[in-house]
Amino acid sequence: MSEISSNNQPIKFGGYYQPKEREVEDLTARVGPGTPCGEYLRRFWHPIMLRTQLDALPRAIRILSEDLVIYRDLSGDIGLLHKHCAHRGASLEFGIIADHGIRCCYHGWMYANDGTILETPGEPASSPHKDRYCQGAYPVIEYKDVIFAYLGPPELKPEFPILDAMVIPDDKMVPYLIHSPCNWQQVSENSMDPFHVPFLHTRVAGPQFSEVFEQLPIIEYHDTPYGFFYTNARRVGDYIWVRMHDHMVPNFSQNGAIFENVGKVRYFGRPGLTRWVVPTDDTNTMVIAWRHYNDRDDPQHQGDPHEVGVGKTDFFGQSGDRPYEERQRTPGDYEAWCSQGPITSHKREHLATTDRGVALLRRKLREEVQNLQKGVEPTRPTALNGSHIPTYGGDTILRIPANGGDDVKLVEEVSGKIAAAYIAFQDLPDTERRTAIANRLAPLNVGDTQAINPNQGKIFEFKPLA
Ligand code: FES
Ligand SMILES: [Fe+2]
Repeated sequence: MSEISSNNQPIKFGGYYQPKEREVEDLTARVGPGTPCGEYLRRFWHPIMLRTQLDALPRAIRILSEDLVIYRDLSGDIGLLHKHCAHRGASLEFGIIADHGIRCCYHGWMYANDGTILETPGEPASSPHKDRYCQGAYPVIEYKDVIFAYLGPPELKPEFPILDAMVIPDDKMVPYLIHSPCNWQQVSENSMDPFHVPFLHTRVAGPQFSEVFEQLPIIEYHDTPYGFFYTNARRVGDYIWVRMHDHMVPNFSQNGAIFENVGKVRYFGRPGLTRWVVPTDDTNTMVIAWRHYNDRDDPQHQGDPHEVGVGKTDFFGQSGDRPYEERQRTPGDYEAWCSQGPITSHKREHLATTDRGVALLRRKLREEVQNLQKGVEPTRPTALNGSHIPTYGGDTILRIPANGGDDVKLVEEVSGKIAAAYIAFQDLPDTERRTAIANRLAPLNVGDTQAINPNQGKIFEFKPLA
């Protein structure tokens, strides 16, 4: 069967000839123990739940296709153990939390948070069992209301990565967690796909964020030590708006501000969200992120921290809880990535010019996974100058009116200069970096930088169609 006719043309009304099933991309889609990508993902710290989800009882969770139980013991420490008791497999979600550790309900074996068996109360005192075995356990870290875990080889455990965006001065961070019933790559690739923004979020079914996203951006990709950032540049009235998007492999990303209407000059605005895409298993995924709130990046306070938490966030289209008909009429990111199927087949796709970011990300991921298969450990983020890991997400807006020449070229040039400034000062802490970037970029402005953009994009409050 062929999709192409004998004269080398696609066959109209030729659904019959199109392949119906195509294999999924196994190398980077499968996340279970022992799979190539599962091994690779196990080299990194991942957020696994929010602090508020952990109450007085143990909780069964699934991460990277492993069934686990998480609990906070009576001393306040968190344990993350394999779900099935090392004795005869009863689930520790029915265990009794102790001062330090958890006791299995079935025969009372008692586990410390590192998996050590502390007691086997039905066994004779001379029983060797408790010194011979261990319950599977993983280290956890609680940071700003998010619980992170490392599921890899203990001898290769990296430092917990503190990104500069996790310590922005005068910034309120509110976490959220949203489940998507599809493979992790579909969710993750969305953020390396800048060209979906003018279509999905503006032109196709009306503006979901602000009108200024309607323009096709001018995109440039830049390598970073751990992935990429790219510049989305747009002309908005007298301003050039460059939105930076950051993507660290395997699964970290940052957007610019969520609510942006390009009203004033801004230097090195910081991200609207700091986000991980964490596989529950091959066909289920969690977005776990912090929304950032501060006066610099959301001066009109359009974000609403009260709308952010388990299963929800304060911007459009990130979860599946809207009525089906509404989701059909005004689909958002969630509909786009979930509707690709449980695990999409890359062989079914036809990548085009707009997919350069997705292609870059896929290539990088494949290389990293294949390197690990050959025994080359991935580079994990480490602090520059011992202080912080630089990130790039956020917005810079300069007042540079069109000058009658080639405006696309002008926007490209300015975008390149902004990216160069972000890189040049990346080893400085956040506030010093902002100052250095501002000092370098300020002379590029033309005219009154305090002027309010007369053509500024109107902010739309999203209303579903009737
Ligand atoms: S199954 Fe857990 S103690 Fe026996
Ligand atoms: Fe989107």
